[in-house]
Amino acid sequence: MAVVGIVPAAGSGTRLGAPGPKAFVPFRGRPLLEWSVDALRAVCERVVVAVPAGHEQPPDRVTGGPSRSASVRRALEAAPEARVVVVHDAARPLVTPDLVRRCVEALEGVDGAIAAAPVTDTVKEAGDDQLVARTLDRSRLWAVQTPQVFRADALRRALDVDDATLAAATDDAALVEAIGGTIRLVEAPQENIKITRPADLVIADVLMSAS
Ligand code: CTP
Ligand code: MG
Repeated sequence: MAVVGIVPAAGSGTRLGAPGPKAFVPFRGRPLLEWSVDALRAVCERVVVAVPAGHEQPPDRVTGGPSRSASVRRALEAAPEARVVVVHDAARPLVTPDLVRRCVEALEGVDGAIAAAPVTDTVKEAGDDQLVARTLDRSRLWAVQTPQVFRADALRRALDVDDATLAAATDDAALVEAIGGTIRLVEAPQENIKITRPADLVIADVLMSAS
């Protein structure tokens, strides 16, 4: 069973505001994406990274696409041997091999198994006018992360949609759900944060020092 890791790392990192792409920002002495690649290598036979144009290194560093899921699709196209796919963002450097392994094990009997955390804030839905339309039932809400592990055939079918549909998807599991796939949640440790804004780098550094 070929387990292939895919790291979408082709984003520009607009919200981080670094001079170059986010995946290459130094974090504890190495490019940010290397932390995710290392955690995946501990579990996967091969790791394919989708990188910004100009950073390609065949066969395992391929050009990303115009959206996150388009980057995942391009990387998956480079790994036709994959039977199980572990998708993990370059933006989550604190992922552990243990979490990756738990997601792979949770794939038994479903199409996807994804890292997630129970929501701790109350979540409200509002219109453009910022008036609250309703309050959601927090006890049933999960904030979804990566790793997201899929049966490769299900993910390939889910990604076989037009660029606008890919661009509208904020995670790959939603695309698998859209073709009727079943997805299981795997509770992730609190440390598995995403680097989005500059303060996240500071928090991630502190978390890694403490672990
Ligand atoms: N990503 C990608 N290809 C894109 C856009 C995003 O591979 N066209 C990747 C990013 O490199 C990142 C992950 O998807 O590892 C999650 O995206 P996000 O955190 O939004 O990163 P960026 O899109 O780079 O940041 P921003 O939205 O602030 O520009
Ligand atoms: Mg983005």
